[in-house]
Amino acid sequence: EKRIGILTSGGDCAGLNAALRAVVHRAIRGYGWRVFGIRDGSLGLMNRPLSYVEFDLSVASGEMLRQGGTILGTINKGDPFAYPMPDGSKKDRSQDFVEGYRELGLDALIVIGGDGSMRILNKLCKMGCVPMVGIPKTIDNDVAHTDYAIGYVTALGVATEAIDRLAPTAASHHRVMILEVMGRDVGHIALSSGIGGGADVILIPEIPYNLEGIAAKIEEVREEGRNHALVVVAEGCKTEDGRPVSQVQTGGEVRYGGIGQYLAAKLAPMVDAETRVTVLGHVQRGGTPNMRDRLIASAFGVHAVDLIAQGKMDRMVAWQHGSVVDVPLAEIAGITRAVDPYGALAHTARGLGIYIGEMNS
Ligand code: F6P
Repeated sequence: EKRIGILTSGGDCAGLNAALRAVVHRAIRGYGWRVFGIRDGSLGLMNRPLSYVEFDLSVASGEMLRQGGTILGTINKGDPFAYPMPDGSKKDRSQDFVEGYRELGLDALIVIGGDGSMRILNKLCKMGCVPMVGIPKTIDNDVAHTDYAIGYVTALGVATEAIDRLAPTAASHHRVMILEVMGRDVGHIALSSGIGGGADVILIPEIPYNLEGIAAKIEEVREEGRNHALVVVAEGCKTEDGRPVSQVQTGGEVRYGGIGQYLAAKLAPMVDAETRVTVLGHVQRGGTPNMRDRLIASAFGVHAVDLIAQGKMDRMVAWQHGSVVDVPLAEIAGITRAVDPYGALAHTARGLGIYIGEMNS
């Protein structure tokens, strides 16, 4: 009888509980193992007393499929190898984690996380010679070798609905509406929701843009007889000339509050129209997971447990070509899966006449 641990690490998203549920079902029903949910990411094994819950099938009801967030918690206090202490110093607390792991008598650990958390947790597991399997999650969808990470498609739905709601108010007021979406350093949410929501302009960190190009597109829309325009911008975009947009910039005449505010301030005089900005923020991470996320979370959870049963360790489950597969954790480390500026979706956007910047600008 194996004892397996599971934790959620990094930013939350919709579908984490569905993955937890699948792991519990497969491990208990399929193999008769015991499953320990570690609370608050790596903290649950670093703290004393240990902070965990033993799952049984009564916990893993269908409700978990519908529940947003993570019932385990995922406090992101920092890297256990350089843990921030109250006095401002950093302390290596990796040994606390390894000892916690031993105290709980775990045979393997399943980590639901993004690329960064999986890399750190894998290092910790190797120190204690404990096998790990990773399950990718992040609304940014930037984990390498998987078409989908848990949470991404639900976030896309939220962003697309936001555009649907902005369109009529933009039309009523003859405005240029700018929607700033999440994505950290990549533009998957912006590109897909922009296409799905019918944006006129989509800006992503992977493709340079110029303000003249955006203004020209808005002018084109006007000449075609439409009195409003929709711009979707990924939070990771920089200024036209590639500088980061400061969140607290107070110098000069214009005070920007992020890339959306920067664009609004710059574009308003250029296009002679009122501009308004919506920063969608964490609403993209919460809420009920949609069908796609429930499905991949369930497939990921079952497959992760099967990998442990087969003795296949240090791997990450992944979604490729419509099915669940697994890849070595080493192959995803340090790689950010960005939008391909020449890929199919970028081509689709250009084909629809959406301004998405210019690769040679
Ligand atoms: O990585 C997920 C993500 O939601 C990013 O899209 C965003 O930049 C970041 O996390 C926000 O982090 P926090 O929850 O710490 O504000």
